[in-house]
Amino acid sequence: MRIAIIGYGGMGNFHYEKAFARYNNTEPDELIECAGIYDISEERCEFARGLGLRVFGSAEEIFADRSIEAVVIATPNDIHLPYVLAAAKAGKHIIVEKPAGLGLDEVKRMYDAAEAAGVLFTPHQNRRWDDDYITVKELISKGSLGECYRIESRVMGANGIPGEWRKVAAQGGGMMLDWGVHLIDQMLGFIKEEVTSVYCTYSYRAGEEVDDGFALEVGFKSGKTYRVVVDTNSFVELPRWQLYCDDGTAVVTDWHNFKVEGRSVRCLVRKDDKLEGVSAGNGFTKTMARRRSETVEVLPLDVVRGDKTAFYRNFVEAVRGREALTIKRGEIERVFKLMELAKLSSDTREVIKESF
Ligand SMILES: NC(=O)c1ccc[n+]([C@@H]2O[C@H](COP(=O)([O-])OP(=O)(O)OC[C@H]3O[C@@H](n4cnc5c(N)ncnc54)[C@H](O)[C@@H]3O)[C@@H](O)[C@H]2O)c1
Repeated sequence: MRIAIIGYGGMGNFHYEKAFARYNNTEPDELIECAGIYDISEERCEFARGLGLRVFGSAEEIFADRSIEAVVIATPNDIHLPYVLAAAKAGKHIIVEKPAGLGLDEVKRMYDAAEAAGVLFTPHQNRRWDDDYITVKELISKGSLGECYRIESRVMGANGIPGEWRKVAAQGGGMMLDWGVHLIDQMLGFIKEEVTSVYCTYSYRAGEEVDDGFALEVGFKSGKTYRVVVDTNSFVELPRWQLYCDDGTAVVTDWHNFKVEGRSVRCLVRKDDKLEGVSAGNGFTKTMARRRSETVEVLPLDVVRGDKTAFYRNFVEAVRGREALTIKRGEIERVFKLMELAKLSSDTREVIKESF
């Protein structure tokens, strides 16, 4: 399958060098061939030539090339929409980088255009296959910690907002669109229930016009809550995941470089008659005293690896009509709706009570 890449920055290159290559290494029946790239930056074009890739003179040239079946759009976020509309019109199947668009309206227009043209359209929500995410999801579904009533999902850096366009609102900058879209997509895949409330505060500590982080709390119909924190000014990291369950707690403390480090702690004895209190601060507490080791069981995480080739295998199979796309329109629209309610909540400082 010949696929061209429009926008050959960090992520455009990832698609060619990592995603296509990993998929091809699985020796599928049908390989993916990079038909070429287009980028407005001569420097990026030169880089692509250095990798032996064909560089097209314009996106239109790609759209006009009948040997190309699909395109990957990996430009800054504000240019996704025009390229998606043009690609659909040209009859190309489309992979668009996340966030698919700047808002729900744009996303609907993209799906409508693809449906009208009879082409497949999918945002690249690759973090559905992250090892840490799959590991905690599996842990909860096995039920060994009982029911999970609160989840905290965090990503914390100390390097500010990267690059130039991510700092510009009109280009779709800000951490909600950058990371929120991934972590909310994960959340809605984790808790398959109606959302009933949204509360969010964006932070603007870096003095840019876009958010450099946010804290989002989502309530679900059963009473479960899910908190997402993104911060770009955290010099000390809290766990990537913390799962509060009826019979125990789990944390993922490291998720960099394909590690998934953490533990789960399961309660063996609910009421510890030998519990002694501790001095804590200017006081004394039994409630917050640590558990005696005899009353709990500490287990390493059973790490489950996400399939890093699943996205492209599904795309190829879907284009050939052998399976449906994994990433569904309704799921993406729900993520965008939630992001819009988060912004509304942050602007008004109100809990938004809406069921969807
Ligand atoms: N899925 C993920 O894990 C992931 C990770 C990083 C970035 N992304 C997404 O990928 C997209 C690109 O991000 P990036 O980090 O690669 O940014 P980047 O700045 O590294 O690359 C963007 C590229 O697009 C080019 N470009 C700009 N305007 C263009 C135009 N009109 N036509 C063609 N090319 C144009 C730029 O010259 C640049 O080379 C964004 O949507 C981003 O959110 C996704």
